Amino acid sequence: MNIQIINGPNLNLLGTREKSIYGDASFETYLASLKERFPDVNISYYQSNVEGEIINKLHEVGFSFDGIVLNAAGYTHTSVALADAIAAINTPVVEVHISNVHKREAFRHHSYISANCKGIIVGFGLDGYRLGIESLIG
Ligand code: DQA
Repeated sequence: MNIQIINGPNLNLLGTREKSIYGDASFETYLASLKERFPDVNISYYQSNVEGEIINKLHEVGFSFDGIVLNAAGYTHTSVALADAIAAINTPVVEVHISNVHKREAFRHHSYISANCKGIIVGFGLDGYRLGIESLIG
């Protein structure tokens, strides 16, 4: 079972970025615990601050992997191209947000990608990635 986690812009700064919203754990530390939790799942991780690179990664894994957990971060609220990429691939994508975007600014309430995703996990902190994997491996 191959699962790809993709984090979008500014999520490389988890652990130092706006800690009151996103917590103080780095993603690398959390990823190690995820891999321990799912020893039978091959979990790959990719982070990019560049929209086109995220699209390229979706194309790369989206016809062979079993699932994708995607936190598109700010591009969630802006990117038609990302929505199109998710629609174009075969692998199911679960949209994850660490914070509850619906409690935040109005511009975070709309997602261009949700309609093309298998489901959405919002507001459970980093645990959302675990929930995303659970939902993909059934
Ligand atoms: C986020 C929410 C987005 O609105 C924001 O732009 C992010 C992170 C989240 O995980 O809560 O960068 O996707």
